[in-house]
Amino acid sequence: MTSGDPALIELLRAEIREHGPVPFAGFMEQALYHPEHGYYSSGRAAIGRRGDYFTNVSVGPIFGQLLAAQFAEIWQRLGQIGNFAIVEQGAHHGDFARDVLAWARERFPKFFAALRYQIVEPFPILQDRQSEAMADFRDKVEWTTSLTPFTGVHFSNELLDALPINLLGKRVGLADDEFVFVEIPDDPETKANQSALDWIDAVAANLRRGFVIMIDYGHTRSRFRHSLQVRAQHRHLDSPFEQIGRADITMHVNWTDIAQRAEANGLGIAGFADQLRFLTGILSTYPQLLPSDSLDSTALSSQVSRAGEQKIARELQTLLHPEMLGRAFQVVALSKDIGGSQQLCGFKFARDPRAALELTQHRWQQSL
Ligand SMILES: C[S@@+](CC[C@H](N)C(=O)[O-])C[C@H]1O[C@@H](n2cnc3c(N)ncnc32)[C@H](O)[C@@H]1O
Repeated sequence: MTSGDPALIELLRAEIREHGPVPFAGFMEQALYHPEHGYYSSGRAAIGRRGDYFTNVSVGPIFGQLLAAQFAEIWQRLGQIGNFAIVEQGAHHGDFARDVLAWARERFPKFFAALRYQIVEPFPILQDRQSEAMADFRDKVEWTTSLTPFTGVHFSNELLDALPINLLGKRVGLADDEFVFVEIPDDPETKANQSALDWIDAVAANLRRGFVIMIDYGHTRSRFRHSLQVRAQHRHLDSPFEQIGRADITMHVNWTDIAQRAEANGLGIAGFADQLRFLTGILSTYPQLLPSDSLDSTALSSQVSRAGEQKIARELQTLLHPEMLGRAFQVVALSKDIGGSQQLCGFKFARDPRAALELTQHRWQQSL
């Protein structure tokens, strides 16, 4: 059953032979991020119709355009500062960054003039791809390999689900050279969802003032189950031991854990909504974001504009429909030192975020 990149498989086998069964996070780290052979770090990962899976970003530019409006509102909320940073992590081939910058230049020119876009990208091959996508915006974009202090907004789409995670009471071992799960009840090393929590610590430490917006698929604590997904060429594989280094491995996010850790780091919970509500909140605040042709029935005579409208309608339907991406994805916003009202337009149709995230105690009670 074991299949995938032969060199990577041999490296993983050698590690297990030498040290014994490894926690799943270690296996996932190598499968996705081994510097030479990992699914993402090798540049092999393909997202979109001809790739392994779809994301919000690969649906089309409308996703970045809607988020550009949300970022512009945040910029206003922070007093229209100069040197406003949009920090993106998990930018893949740079499509989202390009869509945001192109739309900001066209629709929010003052915001565009004030912003700089920072991509946090540890992998050189992905930096190169992003740089190609960003050819029009060279003076706006900078790259770092890890987070650095910033004021503005941190954005990620499907970053958290790709961070290495442990499976409670399970390690990866070998049986006749095939990878297998080995049950080790009460194994302390398999407990923590450590990389996502470390990541929140790092974001909180580097955010001087502003917001963090995370989009991903997950559950709150009472509904959370460890549900691993392994995807290649738009197929769900049965096991993470198939197509090692050639398939994506993801895990649903436990939003309550993330939010609790954020609060412990002094961040505020600024919003929690499913994607349907979040994007509808932005659209209803900025209806002018839809191309003016789509609001003007006289333009329907033009074949070109009609084709464009149909494309946008299809993209919006995919992002918003409850049985497509509208409910599967959720959006969490965190904030620091913003004063006054925290509510962003994306959350105008959302419930109280702390209650919805099952953060039942008040912060002062948690510290007792
Ligand atoms: C599931 S993909 C999502 C890509 C893109 N955001 C999208 O929605 O199409 C996850 C991405 O996160 C990146 N990633 C994982 N850990 C990272 C880290 N520590 N810093 C920056 N990017 C990271 C991976 O390389 C990969 O490109």
